[in-house]
Amino acid sequence: MKPEATPQGIIAGSIPLFAGHPSRDLLPIDELRRIMSAGWAGRRVGRFLNYGDEQGDSQLIDFLVERFNRSEMLGISRDNLMIIGGSTGGLGMITQHLTRPGDVVLVDAPSYRDALHIFRDYRLEICSAPIDDEGLVISDLARKLRQLAAAGKAPRFYYVAPNFQNPSGITMSRERRLAVIDLSREFGFAIVEDDVYNDIRFGGALPPSFYHLAGGEHVLRLGSFSKTLAPGLRIGWLVAPADWIARFVDSGMLRMGGGANPFTAAVVADYCRSGAWEGHVEWLRGQYRRRRDVALAALDASMPSGLHWTRPEGGYFIWLRLPPSVHVDDLEGRAQARNIYFASGKGFYVNPEAGAHHLRLSFSYVPQAELQAGIEILGGLIARMTA
Ligand SMILES: Cc1ncc(COP(=O)(O)O)c(C=O)c1O
Repeated sequence: MKPEATPQGIIAGSIPLFAGHPSRDLLPIDELRRIMSAGWAGRRVGRFLNYGDEQGDSQLIDFLVERFNRSEMLGISRDNLMIIGGSTGGLGMITQHLTRPGDVVLVDAPSYRDALHIFRDYRLEICSAPIDDEGLVISDLARKLRQLAAAGKAPRFYYVAPNFQNPSGITMSRERRLAVIDLSREFGFAIVEDDVYNDIRFGGALPPSFYHLAGGEHVLRLGSFSKTLAPGLRIGWLVAPADWIARFVDSGMLRMGGGANPFTAAVVADYCRSGAWEGHVEWLRGQYRRRRDVALAALDASMPSGLHWTRPEGGYFIWLRLPPSVHVDDLEGRAQARNIYFASGKGFYVNPEAGAHHLRLSFSYVPQAELQAGIEILGGLIARMTA
């Protein structure tokens, strides 16, 4: 019998510390099944099996607009929000509309690997500046911008995951966000804020979003149900100035495609409107917080000295810096021989060698006992490599 196929390249029997998606026990399967059954019987069934509105399911739009105005005082109207096929679909759409091959985009170093992949698909020049514990280092970005200007290049946008960044788990401070907004005005680039981890927070409040701080000007803010409901639904949202939303809604892709995933958007709308989402998010925070605590305790107990790792206050990821004597390729080979898989730091940099002494651990997928065991084995391997 063939082993059960697992999504996202997970090898049966391994400890996939690389997997950045929710485990099955964190998906609200029964509740979604109930909502879907009720939907089939209800009046909306004829609508949700047809092409939808280009802007997306109107009930979901209204729900999200009300939520952001209540919880973040964003002051948006329904003209500022559209439904997209996950944050990834939204980023692809934005990149397609805002750039041409050869244009420059700015990113953090390290940055979300799949965003780099999209920018490469669109043949963009990707320019990165480093981050520290407070996010993007402003002096480095300013220097890069001056160099680009001297070369006659104007970046189209800065892509950032400001909260619990993938891969580092770092949240950008309010001061840094304000400084980036100042630079965006001076050098004329937009800000694409990919905020998929916003709701997975374990501690206090987050700094205001770029969208809020910039008064909505030149900021496109992506969000998603992938981390707080289920990634297979492929549903997210984009908040942006009304003229940009109008431009995207009028695109050929959405006109012919009949909006983003009308069927699942209708199910998600019913789920959210039932009040179930807020309760589920609250429950998820506790679950992920517990896993984060297990991972940090295992790191504290088993890693040799000379390593540094982040202590995220939310999201899915911990970012480890290895000693200079340990190359991530070498560690990866040894870990895989013990059935442990992590995300090599190399994938998160424009220049992969910049990540040669880093790795990302995810605590979203692996059960607590395996999380602990996997980290302990990694600690033992690194200790032997540094002895
Ligand atoms: C920063 C970031 N953006 C986007 C995504 C994917 O979001 P979606 O499933 O909505 O496309 C992820 C998932 O790993 C992510 O880490």
